[in-house]
Formats: sequence, structure tokens, C-alpha cells
Amino acid sequence: MEDEPNKKKLLILYASETGNAMDAAERLGREADRRCCPVSVLCIDDFEPKSLPFEETVIYVVSTTGQGDVPDSMKGFWRFLLQRSLSKEWLKGVDYGVFGLGDSSYQKYNFVAKKLDKRLLDLGARPLIERGLGDDQHPSGYEGALDPWMSKLWKILYNKAPNLFPNDPNTATLNGTWVDQPKIQITYHDVGKGNSQCSAAIDFKSLEMLIERTRSMSPGKSSGKMRPDCFLNLTENCPLTRPGSGKDVWHLEFEAVSSSFSLFQSIHYDVGDVLEVLPSQDPVAVDAFMKRCNLNPEAYITVQPSKKENSMGDTNHAPDIPVKLKTFVELTMDIASASPRRYFFEIMSNFASAQHEKERLQYFASPEGRDDLYQYNQKERRTVLEVLEDFPSVQMPLEWLVQLIPPLKTRAFSISSSNSAHPNQVHLTVSVVSWTTPYKRTRKGLCSTWLAGLDPQQRVLIPAWFHKEMRRMTSYIETFGCPIYKVVEYFQRTKVEDFMLRSQETSHKRCMCNIKCGNKARKSGICLLGGLLSTLQVLLTKCPLMYWQLWRK
Ligand SMILES: Cc1cc2nc3c(=O)[nH]c(=O)nc-3n(C[C@H](O)[C@H](O)[C@H](O)COP(=O)(O)O)c2cc1C
Repeated sequence: MEDEPNKKKLLILYASETGNAMDAAERLGREADRRCCPVSVLCIDDFEPKSLPFEETVIYVVSTTGQGDVPDSMKGFWRFLLQRSLSKEWLKGVDYGVFGLGDSSYQKYNFVAKKLDKRLLDLGARPLIERGLGDDQHPSGYEGALDPWMSKLWKILYNKAPNLFPNDPNTATLNGTWVDQPKIQITYHDVGKGNSQCSAAIDFKSLEMLIERTRSMSPGKSSGKMRPDCFLNLTENCPLTRPGSGKDVWHLEFEAVSSSFSLFQSIHYDVGDVLEVLPSQDPVAVDAFMKRCNLNPEAYITVQPSKKENSMGDTNHAPDIPVKLKTFVELTMDIASASPRRYFFEIMSNFASAQHEKERLQYFASPEGRDDLYQYNQKERRTVLEVLEDFPSVQMPLEWLVQLIPPLKTRAFSISSSNSAHPNQVHLTVSVVSWTTPYKRTRKGLCSTWLAGLDPQQRVLIPAWFHKEMRRMTSYIETFGCPIYKVVEYFQRTKVEDFMLRSQETSHKRCMCNIKCGNKARKSGICLLGGLLSTLQVLLTKCPLMYWQLWRK
């Protein structure tokens, strides 16, 4: 039976690739809720597009990814909306608003929001408000456009839809006493000493299950598979660039020490596939965080949606097996790399006991303090631990910490080895990410720094997942400026399929690469080849250890 259409609810649908649109949608939802507007916030792929005509008011918050592409979660919805069979009156009577997130340095700036807006109009929906466009280039990021757009939206809803929006739009802003409740609840467990997790000799299967169980409990979990495909050990790491060359690129070799692929325990992948790695966090930072937040590292917990969230239809129950609190922090909470979101500062202000800290945090969370927060937090890539240390009087309950600290994400790298040439091994070419903030603080990428700094002798276990090459990984898989999948694609198209193999089988210190292609193929791929040639020329001058011989017929 289909759900009875709920006419009197503001529906907010979001499509996000890296979390910003989700954050913006949740903020809209919270602000609507504070104004007594019944609201539902959903990821767009959790919504059945056929039900769209039964909705009264829908707000879309969508980002643009790739080269003007829709986020993965929006693909099905967008395909549905593009069907020719949908009439020009299909969405008659449905009011809508679109807020887009993009970056004006891209050619197809906010393309998804623009094309969605147009398509909704074509299908007869009625725009409530001119579409809003958030821009990463704005001094305070996408929030620079979101704040005024949101205020305008509340005013319009108040005038146009009093059934939805009964209260004065300024009510919540004026009422400073509002305190939200966390969406999750945490239960502490008394676990006996014989628990298997306490055992030092933990086996791979138990470790895989522990990672799966722990990451499944995280409120910020991704939709992917939680249990690792295998554990890897680093066997060799070798710098490909010289100090001072301006780049820090490493050749890394791993071997699989366990695998759920087959009975024979060997791993399988194709050229161009992607390896996802769960990075380890600095143990010193984890200990400092536990101490700063007065958390008992030996405690055992389970994390579940709060009763209110469950009653709203969230059936995603966490498994009821306790995990060590310290393990939970290590595996799921990014405490020393990602920056917290604006809402973190708002909630922090409720738990500050020092008045000056409370005021500072309230200022940061206010529209007036938005630009200063952006400079202090995002531009400086302030970590959660740094923020907590800057406001020492704040003691946040664990529920809020778990809900609001950015989730620890896996990182994706394009595989640069061939499975047939190197059975049970996987090689990566990793560029160590490093940059300087406006206040001259050096920041480093968590995963690339960790991988390049590993000692092969230590045999650290690295949880890993294999994936088919995905479009959304484009930004991660560049090697020397040229995405590997493009190179592979080009050489496969031009029947020079042994390119990858040859470049691997020679030593990485003296790498020979022959490129052959006929006239026709050269014409079709001339742009890419031109790009590749200039990339290799740069490489040659920067990295004389590598010798590339290029010739064309
Ligand atoms: C790989 C990648 C590709 C992007 N492509 C575009 C684009 O084509 N047009 C655009 O306006 N913004 C583009 N952006 C910027 C994002 O839309 C922007 O950072 C947005 O805030 C991301 O929101 P999300 O986290 O919800 O996905 C791109 C960002 C990334 C990382």
C-alpha cells in the first residue's frame, strides 16, 4: 500500500556528494522546525519520485559535481524526471524552491540546480522563490547565499502557506532559549573481561567484523559496504620526486594479508579500479581528544537513533553489540583532520561555562559572525580537537560529539598496478597533500601523509575496499596531473593495451613507456595526447630519475 500523501509537511530533498548539501538541508529543516513548521528532510534517493505530485511544497538542496553532473544519489531521481511521458501539468499545484551548491570557478557553475529548476518549471511546478546559488568562492562559502535565501523563504512561506508556516518567521531567531536535542542515544555497557575484543591475538575475521559493526553504528556512515574486502600491509614505499621539487609523490606497494574475495585469499581487481583505504588517526590526537572530553577509553557503548528519530520512521537500527569507546572514536570520528560544521559551534555554545567563550561561540553561529567563522574554521582547516582546545570550558555530551564530529571517511586512490603482473599485490601512486593556510599553518592530508609515512617493517594492517572506477573519484585519482583512468581509456581505445603493464614491469626508478597509435586514433585522442605529452615533459624536468621515451608513428 502506498503511503498516504502528507499534504501538510514541508519536504526538503537533498542531493550531496561530499556532505555540504546535506548539511544545508538539515539546517533548513532545523530552522523550519524551530518555527513550528512540520518538516521532513530526506536524501533524494530515499524519496519515491512518483509521489512528487502529492506533495504541497518541496525544497530541493542540490550540489553539482564532476563536470556539471548530478550527485550519485540524484541519478535515479533525475532519470525519472527526464522521462518524456511526464506531462507539462504533472507537477501542477506543487510549490517548490531550489537551492544549489557549486563553485563559480567551474565552467558549469551550479549546473544541477539550474537544470533542475528548469525541468520542474517545465513539468508545471510553481516556483515559490527565485533559486538560490551557494558558491564556494564566496568569502563565507555557500552559507553566504544560504542565510539570506532562507530568511526570504520563511517570509514567503509565512505569507503563502499559513497552514504550513503558522509562526512569524523571526520567532525562532528572537527566541534565544531554543535548545535542540541530539538525534542519537548512547548506551553504556558493562562488558566482562573475557570479551573477545580485549584479546590481544585478534584474528582478521573478528577485526573485519569489528570495523563493520563500529562503522555501521556511526550516524555519518556512508552507504557503501562496511566490512573491508581485505587488510593490506605496506611492503615498499619509495619517493618519486626529489625534495624541493614542489611535489611529494610516492610509489607504494602493498600485499594482501587477508581477503574475503575467495577461498584462496587472493585479491581481484582490474586496471583502473579504485582502492579505498580507511586511514588511521594519530594515536596521540585520539588520546588527547579522549582526555579533553573526559571520555573513558575503556567504556563499551552502543549508538542508536534517539526515540524521536525512530518514531519518525528511521528503521536503521544499529546492531546491539557494544564496542569500545576508544575504538569507536578511532574508526568513525575525524577528530584531527576535518573541520567541524557551523552547527557544531552553535551546540558548543550551549555547553560553554565561561561567559566569554559562550558569547564568542554564539557570535560564530550567528549570521553576523558567519564570515569570521569561515575564516577561523574552514579557511584555517581547524580540526575538532583544535576547536575544543580553543574553548576549554565547553563540555559536550558524547551524544552531541558523536552526532556532530565529521565522520572519518575512507579515501579513494586509483590503482596503478596490474593484478595479473602482481598477484596479491596492489600499487598506488600517491601525491601527499599539503598546503598553507592564510595564517601560514601547514596542513596535511590525513591519508596520504599517513600512507607515505608508514614503515614497511611495522606491518600495519590497512583496511581496504576495491571498487570499479567511478566518475566521482576523478578528483582523487590524478597522477602527475593526468587522471589514470583517462590514460587507460585512451590507450585501450587506441589498441595500445599494454601501456599500463609495461610501465609497471620496469623498475619505477627507470620507467620506459612506449606509446604507439595510428593516425585515426591520434586524431580522436589528440587533445588528451597533447595534455599527456606536456604532463610528461613537466615530469621529466622535475623527476630526472624517470625516463620516458615517447614516440609516435
Ligand atoms: C570533484 C568536484 C567537482 C565539482 N564540479 C563542480 C561543477 O561542475 N560545477 C560547480 O558549480 N561546482 C562544482 N563543484 C563544487 C561543489 O559543487 C561544491 O564544493 C559543493 O559545495 C559541494 O557540495 P556537496 O558536498 O553537497 O557535494 C565540484 C566539486 C568537486 C569536489
